[in-house]
Amino acid sequence: MSTLDEILGEAQAAFVAVDSLPALDQAKARFLGKSGLVTEQMKGLGALAPEERKAAGARINQVKDQVEALLKARREAIQVAQLEHQLKEESLDVTLPGRGEAVGGLHPVTRTLARIEQLFASIGFEVADGPEVETDFYNFTALNIPEDHPARAMHDTFYVQGGQLLRTHTSPVQVHYMQDHQPPIRIIAPGRVFRVDSDATHSPMFHQVEGLWVDEQASFANLKGVIQDFLQRFFERDDLRVRFRPSFFPFTEPSAEMDMSWGDGWLEIGGCGMVHPNVFAHVGVDPERYQGFAFGLGVERLAMLRYGVDDLRLFFENDVRFLKQFA
Ligand code: PHE
Repeated sequence: MSTLDEILGEAQAAFVAVDSLPALDQAKARFLGKSGLVTEQMKGLGALAPEERKAAGARINQVKDQVEALLKARREAIQVAQLEHQLKEESLDVTLPGRGEAVGGLHPVTRTLARIEQLFASIGFEVADGPEVETDFYNFTALNIPEDHPARAMHDTFYVQGGQLLRTHTSPVQVHYMQDHQPPIRIIAPGRVFRVDSDATHSPMFHQVEGLWVDEQASFANLKGVIQDFLQRFFERDDLRVRFRPSFFPFTEPSAEMDMSWGDGWLEIGGCGMVHPNVFAHVGVDPERYQGFAFGLGVERLAMLRYGVDDLRLFFENDVRFLKQFA
């Protein structure tokens, strides 16, 4: 059996060797438990002669107290160490720079739309809108588009259940607006349109801005002036020129494609014309009294030119590396 001094030495070594409270409790049991080393010493007292018993008992108690004191000291040391560890883990370094909030920005197409609306508002145009899911009547019939027109074919247009379709242009808003309002009318109608089409310059969803001006006097010359004024202000270039090429739309007569000068050449930016009498007839506007012009501009086209973007699909991929450049 170990001597008391050895037991004390062992206890000290055992307590120092552990660094958690559960492990310390286990070490404690080895000395002070029911069959621990110190307890065994107590049990041995009975075998001693009565006159030796008292001194030996006192000596064992002393060692027991010392073991308990070692235990207490070690317990406190472990607790302090744990607290320090926790403080260090959970500490905040208030001197570190903040991470900052990521600031969002408006999408380049949204910016372009806002700019278009602002410029037209400054010359008296109001903003109108209409549904993106349309009936045949609004998208085609009321716009004088004949039964066999290619836009009516399944492969050019997204039809939805029930015979309705995703509008292929913003021109149906002309019809809605003229049904509800009498001239004078001066509106633009920005919005999404849908066509079965996809490549570097076409997306199945894109944006147009429709324009409609109906009054007793609203001439083709006025149309040209409005478009030229708009484009010069949009691109901030007084030398920008506009060219009208004869074209055909069922809902305008005469009709034209609008081109603007860009570098050494011309770029097409939309279609336009004088509102066709058949369209007026569908919405109850007197073609003897009123005349009007309408135009449709491609918004992505304007955004691509203004920002120097060469692939239209970039607008809809939602890649932040692209979008960040406009924020
Ligand atoms: N709606 C025609 C298109 O999408 C554009 C247009 C609008 C033409 C208004 C004339 C008048 O191509």
